[in-house]
Amino acid sequence: MQESSISKFLDKIICGDSLKILKEIPNDSIDLIITSPPYFQQRDYEGIGIGNERTVEEYIDNLLCIFGECVRVLKKSGSIVFNIGDKYIDGNLLLIPYRFAIEVTRKFRVKLVNEVTWIKLNPTPMPHEKKLVPSKEPFFIFVKSKEYVFNKDKFLNHLDLFKEMERSMRKQKSNGSRKNIGKKYFDLIDASSLTDDQKKKAKEELLEVIREVREGKIEGFRMKIKGIHSMPYGGQEGGRKLKIEKQGYSIIKIHGKPMKKDIIEAPVETLKGNIHPAVYPEYIIKEFIKLLTNEGDIVLDPFVGSGTTAIAAKKLGRHFIGIDISEKYCKYAMNRLLEIGNSSDNVFVEEVIY
Ligand SMILES: C[S@@+](CC[C@H](N)C(=O)[O-])C[C@H]1O[C@@H](n2cnc3c(N)ncnc32)[C@H](O)[C@@H]1O
Repeated sequence: MQESSISKFLDKIICGDSLKILKEIPNDSIDLIITSPPYFQQRDYEGIGIGNERTVEEYIDNLLCIFGECVRVLKKSGSIVFNIGDKYIDGNLLLIPYRFAIEVTRKFRVKLVNEVTWIKLNPTPMPHEKKLVPSKEPFFIFVKSKEYVFNKDKFLNHLDLFKEMERSMRKQKSNGSRKNIGKKYFDLIDASSLTDDQKKKAKEELLEVIREVREGKIEGFRMKIKGIHSMPYGGQEGGRKLKIEKQGYSIIKIHGKPMKKDIIEAPVETLKGNIHPAVYPEYIIKEFIKLLTNEGDIVLDPFVGSGTTAIAAKKLGRHFIGIDISEKYCKYAMNRLLEIGNSSDNVFVEEVIY
């Protein structure tokens, strides 16, 4: 039954107030909500909608109302990604994204699993003698349960291919010097104050990881020996520090899988003939869609603007639902969607508000 009620929203750009439209969407029906609400007091959007509040508190409260609906419509396995811009008022940076994220984790049963920083490769210049140019924005990933979809290998995997090439070139270059792998560690074990038994075990384990490197099972390893290397900071009970204290050494295997970092570099989007002042990069949105959904899933953007989220979702074989208060932007989003495929039925004007 829920399936049929969500189906009327699928692959539509809906013109109206997102709080009102969201209230019509059934519980637990959306896989990913990804969006960028208007900046606080930016006055970009003809004075309508969110962003025109008198105070930051009112602005955050309004966003929280929408966020509450997002949590309700989200499936248990889903996630919500909010990209929020910051603002200087009277020369003071307000830290709005962080105030919002803190309030969200206070008010709703969600977990903030990552803050992914978008590093802008071509930030807008800010002609201020005594301020650096703001060139980053956060994308917060919130989840509703531990069962959230997280396709880590799919995130930025084109960069992994480059790293893979680099690694194999490095490997080829260093093949001659592989004979001496680990030699320095044998010397260090001998020079250490470990007991004879600890030294014996350390050497046995060392020989084993060297074999794994030679057989190509692991990329490399790092060893820490008590009294020789500095101890790791912090860590969990039963972690590396504890191991070094107990057995006198620890070995960490490097599996060669690229690390997935919480940063994404991309230029600010420049679209030909663009009429929208704040388009976010399709490239970034695609990466989040690949990370947080599977094919056929439903992606919703309550502030869809020029339609970037809908376009990214459609190109990746996901369903989309886009909402925007501006009829002008809804039409623009629809035209962009039309350009990428036969989607002539994709605009559904629920309500036009000026
Ligand atoms: C920052 S823009 C989104 C841009 C979009 N990410 C893109 O790539 O084009 C925010 C959008 O929210 C819309 N908006 C503002 N208040 C709204 C509301 N209450 N309901 C729906 N849309 C709203 C504005 O019209 C604007 O297009």
